[in-house]
Amino acid sequence: MDDKHSAISQFYRKSIAERRAVAKAHAGLSADDLETLVNTGLPEAQADLMIENVIGRFSLPLGLATNFRINNRDFLIPMAIEEPSVVAASSYAAKLFRASGGFEASSDEPIMIGQLQLLDLPDLAAAADEILERKADILAEIDGRAGSIVRRGGGARDLEIRDLSGSGRGEILVLHIHIDTRDAMGANAVNSALESIAPTIERISGGRAHLRILSNLSDRRLARASGMIEAKALETEKASGSQVIDVIMEAAALAEIDPYRAATHNKGIMNGIDAVVMATGNDWRAVEAGAHAYAARNGHYASLTEWRKDDDGNLRGRIELPLAVGIVGGATGAHGGAQTALKILGVTSAQELAEVAAAVGLAQNFAAIRALATEGIQRGHMRLHARQLALAAGATPEDAPEIAQRMIDAGRIRLAYAKMLLDDRKQGK
Ligand code: MEV
Repeated sequence: MDDKHSAISQFYRKSIAERRAVAKAHAGLSADDLETLVNTGLPEAQADLMIENVIGRFSLPLGLATNFRINNRDFLIPMAIEEPSVVAASSYAAKLFRASGGFEASSDEPIMIGQLQLLDLPDLAAAADEILERKADILAEIDGRAGSIVRRGGGARDLEIRDLSGSGRGEILVLHIHIDTRDAMGANAVNSALESIAPTIERISGGRAHLRILSNLSDRRLARASGMIEAKALETEKASGSQVIDVIMEAAALAEIDPYRAATHNKGIMNGIDAVVMATGNDWRAVEAGAHAYAARNGHYASLTEWRKDDDGNLRGRIELPLAVGIVGGATGAHGGAQTALKILGVTSAQELAEVAAAVGLAQNFAAIRALATEGIQRGHMRLHARQLALAAGATPEDAPEIAQRMIDAGRIRLAYAKMLLDDRKQGK
């Protein structure tokens, strides 16, 4: 799979069937896999088992971002999202990063944090000491009761104690149990482990175990991506590459100090990350919660990315955030479409999926701030929107760009106008 090329020129001009054929060839998809793309991959009976009171299924567009090269391997990236421009922007950015070798990405071991709140302790310090003394036994007890996570090479790894007695409720100890959940996101495994160990912790501490739930600030499970774009690739009609980097840095500086801008900046990052998380059937609320909590880790909410001009005058970007995603279990296992998305990605571990998602976030952020810092976001957006309207009005993929341009020039980006332009064209006007 390593030599499969994700740099597919004019992918957007292909028909849906042609794009599916590319995905099929890239990932060796079966007829059943292709069927999940056609029919959402979620039979009604399956949906009925996933949540309560099911009355139907809800679809989103699934697009494929091209040009991604991450850790010297090409990826086609499935993205489930309702917002136009995101897939195109990711693909465009990935193309620029690709020219200098693509993204480098890395990630921590898949360690989730489970929190156990302890109250009504007769002696907080003694309880903390006793728990730490019995750490090895506690971890072994968790592993003894855990199921598939331990069989797959995961399990309880560590235990930490936090004294949060400053809260309004008086004395509180919080145990953090670190569990390696391997290729699962791991929510169920962590929550089960916490509930199963709670009576033992109560016995040891003499206190009362209250909340037993994972933390979505999964900062033991960070993913990182970085990449470089040569200045000359950023040149525009009006500005040199170096000037474009400078205005990008100005945009990034605002997101570093201002939470109002950082929220929007990070939302753009999550446009890319969530779309991958959704396509692979993962819990995007968990990833969102982790990302934003991490963005505020230094006491003020800030950007999840860093941008700088390097000594050679090129643009370098970096992202780091918690990415609790899995490739087994949960909706990922139950949803045929998510399975197909994973096949297209060709990732073999939860860590690799997290690394891919981080790279997509960085790409997305670059595309957004480059557009904002230069021509503004609406130009590209309107161009895409106009092209989509032209196609909806009946233009062929070959004719759509010209019809779109005429709509833009006239300042009338509407379906009715696209139809009128096409009619005129048919009549040779
Ligand atoms: C829109 O969905 C995302 C942006 O607002 C991100 C940003 O401002 O950086 C364009």
